[in-house]
Formats: sequence, structure tokens, C-alpha cells
Amino acid sequence: MSEGTHDTVREIRHGDRDTLARHVAGSLAEALQSSLQQRSHASLIVPGGSTPVPVFRVLREQTLPWSRVRVSLSDERWVPPTSHDSNEHLVCRELLQGKAAAAQLIGLTSAIETPWLAVNDCAQRLAQLPRPFDAVLLGMGDDGHTASLFPGSDALVSGLDHEHGEDCVASHPEGIPQPRLSLGLHALLDSRLLILCFFGESKWQIYQEALTADPMQMPVAAVLRQTRTPVTVHWAP
Ligand code: 6PG
Repeated sequence: MSEGTHDTVREIRHGDRDTLARHVAGSLAEALQSSLQQRSHASLIVPGGSTPVPVFRVLREQTLPWSRVRVSLSDERWVPPTSHDSNEHLVCRELLQGKAAAAQLIGLTSAIETPWLAVNDCAQRLAQLPRPFDAVLLGMGDDGHTASLFPGSDALVSGLDHEHGEDCVASHPEGIPQPRLSLGLHALLDSRLLILCFFGESKWQIYQEALTADPMQMPVAAVLRQTRTPVTVHWAP
């Protein structure tokens, strides 16, 4: 393991993905446990995608008062929770198992027809989670998106405004199969612990580029270049 820093960013490069999963799951569990010393409930925001799965599989076996943990999503594809494309489906399948089965999942989708019509409902759902969140876990796409904040998206004006932006923003980015609902930066940065995880050499290069990129072109740059919330970047080959 090697470490490095930029202004708000602390980098941890792990030797392999299992080591990263154990380290990140330990950090998340510690944040939740620490919060529950003072709060009746703890709050955890997680992404979809493949990267968090090894973390989920370690985290779900951590000994925590999981019934007092409320879990929601950094973003969602606007599909039924029964769909294999649903992030809620992924979290139920990979995280809310074992000891973590007792946790309360607060999904972002509903019978509301489109994410644009559901923005207020999403904000009300999020209001069930203690703020600031105790931990937010994010991934990063090859195009520099994070959550469902995509380059060139019409949701970025509000989605990247961490001071006055909406908690939830809707979009249907070009080339993405389903409409998306995403937490905006305003919500994603409202956390006691903020972790960004990604794997592989090509994503390390994308990350290096994002450190100095225009957030409108690489939205993950907005997470890396803000000075409000320290972010820890975990990488493995
Ligand atoms: C989603 C995620 C998304 C993800 C990135 C990286 O809904 O897919 O929230 O932001 O973190 O696309 O995905 P991988 O982890 O699969 O590379």
C-alpha cells in the first residue's frame, strides 16, 4: 500500500482488490459504528456498478447494529427495483445480506413515471437518512462520471453546485440506456466520510486527468477539486 495527497484528496493505492475491499469496508464500518455511539441511526450512501461489490461482500459481514443503519443510493437507473439494471437490486443482492440484512434500504425509485417528476419524492426519501451522512461511497466511470453526474449532462448545473444545488437531479445522458436520478454534489459532499473507489491502470490515468479537469467535462473532478469535504481515493490494479 502506498499513500499520497493533493489538497482535499488522500490517495491510497492497494496491492490488490481484496485488500482494497477489506480496507474500505473497515473504514465504512468504523464510520457507521462511531456514529451509532451518538445517533440513533447511521446513514450510508453507496453507488451501483461493479466496483463496490467486493466492498459490499466484506462490509455485510461486519458486526454492527445493522438494524440502526439506513442505506440509500448515490444514484439510480429509472427501472423497477426488480430489474437487474437497478442499483437498488444490486444493493439488496450484494450488501443487504448476512449481518447487513437487518439494515433499512431507502430506495430512490417509485411508481412515479419519470425521474424528473420524482426529484421531490427523492429528496423526501433522503430526508429519512441522518445528515450529514456518515459515509458516502462513490465509483467513477471511464468518462469521468460519478454517481449519475455525466459529462455534458443538463443536470450538471444544479448537480455540481455544492452550495445551492438540489439534493436530487434527473437526466438522461446521451448513450445511457435508462434515465437516471442522481444525488447532486450538494448531497454527496454532505458526509462525514467520503470515499471514491476505482480499479485498474486506465482508471488511474483517468483519475489523474480528473484532478485538473473541468468538472463539466469530467464531473468526478468536482469531487476531487472541492475543499468542503476531504475525499479518500482507494485504487487497486
Ligand atoms: C452506476 C454507478 C456509477 C458507477 C460508475 C462506475 O449507477 O452505475 O453509480 O456511477 O459508480 O459507472 O461503474 P463500475 O464500478 O462498474 O466501473
